Amino acid sequence: MMNKLQNAFSHCKFEVPEIIFGRGLLGQVGSCARRLGGKKVFLVSDQGLFQAGWVDQVMQCLLNDGLAFVYYDQITPNPKDTEIEDGAREYIRQGADVIVGLGGGSAMDAAKGIAILVSNGGRIQDYEGPDKIHRPIPPLVLCPTTCGTGSDVSQFAVINDSAERRKFTIMSRCVAPDISLTDPDTLETLPDEHVCTTAADALSHAVEAYLSVASSTLTDVNAVRALRLISQSMGNAVQERRPEDMANLARASLHAGMAFSNSLLGIAHALAHPIGGLYDANHGSVNAVLLPAVVGYDLPVVSERLPELAWGLGHQTNGDVAMASEIVQESINRLLDVCNAPRSLKSLGVEEKDLPELARRAKKDVCILTSPREASESDLLDILEQVY
Ligand SMILES: [Fe+2]
Repeated sequence: MMNKLQNAFSHCKFEVPEIIFGRGLLGQVGSCARRLGGKKVFLVSDQGLFQAGWVDQVMQCLLNDGLAFVYYDQITPNPKDTEIEDGAREYIRQGADVIVGLGGGSAMDAAKGIAILVSNGGRIQDYEGPDKIHRPIPPLVLCPTTCGTGSDVSQFAVINDSAERRKFTIMSRCVAPDISLTDPDTLETLPDEHVCTTAADALSHAVEAYLSVASSTLTDVNAVRALRLISQSMGNAVQERRPEDMANLARASLHAGMAFSNSLLGIAHALAHPIGGLYDANHGSVNAVLLPAVVGYDLPVVSERLPELAWGLGHQTNGDVAMASEIVQESINRLLDVCNAPRSLKSLGVEEKDLPELARRAKKDVCILTSPREASESDLLDILEQVY
């Protein structure tokens, strides 16, 4: 038994930030910033969160904790290099000393990008790829307000090069925040459409992290837990928005984030990044379109993984791979239907003439490296055509 356990853990590397999770805990944001030595907070969020009142609440918490702050909201979905450069200049000009990112993946990735530039200088593109950051970034607290990004625990930031209309990934332990603070109550004001798209993103994180060649015991535990929570709560969360189901989706996002931060992802995300870059398309929607076809492509090489994946999706198969294969595909499709996910690239505005270029770019994306099944440019093009 001991040898088996030792083998199971022999090649695990698993890193997560300090995690605070609970309803009503957003008020701890000031004490988190203070604990990290901050006196002047650079608060990165977006106009939607401002209108929903959460930015005001955070500002009040910061004031109550005796902290000064600067508010920066010049960010858009799929955050752009220029927005990050402007934010970094503002951070330096204002003499801030800690960053708080409040929002979805865009606000949090922008906060990470700003943090990288203020301590390392240069252009944000200089840090593309693995381990290019040499100086420690300022203290960073990330507060997710959606059901799906995982950026609050991940070692990645995905930024859009606005001139090239290309998304690129920064990978470094340095960009995992010091503290991830989730208050599921912030989901109360998340528009229905974003509940669906971000939950679809979390679903794709959990499935791709589980099937990744870099998965481990620890990432599996988190990926499967995320799937259990999504399959149990997605329907009620989307249809009735019950607080406990919304909290389960937030918890699923956290578990899926811990999984993929340590195991990386696969072909769905490798394709989603160039599509998001070229069309500024919604990331969760793109993944929803791609995921069923990518799982179908992976099936021949992941058979022994399927029974546990099916269990995560709520079904006992007693190790029957054929049954598990059917159940996995059906369950993923059913969950995507529950959240009314788009099912074609065309419906997202993708142009057919661009498919070969998207396949070419996806072949260079870092997420392709951990796909369980190798894919040539032609294989990637086949998948794109299948879901066009
Ligand atoms: Fe994602």
